[in-house]
Amino acid sequence: MSLEDIKNYLNSIRRDFADRPLNEDSVKKNPIDQYAVWFEEAVDSQLLDPYAMCLSTVNKNGKPTSRIVYMRDIINDAFVFYTNYNSQKAGDIQHNPFAALNIHWSELERQIRIEGSIEKVKPEISDAYFEGRPKESKIGAWASKQSDLLENRDALSAKVELFTDKFKNTDDIPRPEFWGGYQLIPNRIEFWQGRPSRLHDRIVFVKEDDKWILQRLNP
Ligand SMILES: Cc1cc2nc3c(=O)[nH]c(=O)nc-3n(C[C@H](O)[C@H](O)[C@H](O)COP(=O)(O)O)c2cc1C
Repeated sequence: MSLEDIKNYLNSIRRDFADRPLNEDSVKKNPIDQYAVWFEEAVDSQLLDPYAMCLSTVNKNGKPTSRIVYMRDIINDAFVFYTNYNSQKAGDIQHNPFAALNIHWSELERQIRIEGSIEKVKPEISDAYFEGRPKESKIGAWASKQSDLLENRDALSAKVELFTDKFKNTDDIPRPEFWGGYQLIPNRIEFWQGRPSRLHDRIVFVKEDDKWILQRLNP
């Protein structure tokens, strides 16, 4: 597609949304329970990667960036993912321990926006998760200096070979200290449901004094 074609396509493409209301009567009173209802529907709809979410962080200079990570757990109402503790996201989080998650299930015309503070999970939680990963993924975690410059693909393969050799006689590969989980502790969760004529439903939960307050926003 040429840039001109893309421009024409973007200017002409329009679609309306189905009419599947989200309202104050039907929504759960707790946003985690509501997330569970929608997640089950996403799984039942056989969406690819319903546990994928866009994580946004802001670095020490106030510059935002986003990337996809997999949600791997929900612990005490906090959303957990795993990553490299020396990665760019980890550096951002160290300087600015606030982040946002965005989940978009296009087939269901739904978006969930989650905001809150973020911190490492307890080491034993990361240990337990790491333990359950396939051996190749464990070696991958050891081999990758995530977000650092890489000279070429061969340099990565060499690191993988090195750690494959190091751990060749054991299935008991320890978790690297530089790899583990983060939990985002939400203080705001918005459920967005597409509706016809762009008159979408937006139900937002805001945490105040340890209680979730439900509000509706303009679309
Ligand atoms: C579908 C999908 C799932 C991903 N899941 C993870 C994940 O769970 N953890 C992770 O560290 N990176 C994951 N990534 C890679 C990240 O998007 C990103 O490239 C990487 O974490 C480095 O980000 P950073 O340099 O901003 O730290 C995933 C990417 C995609 C497309």
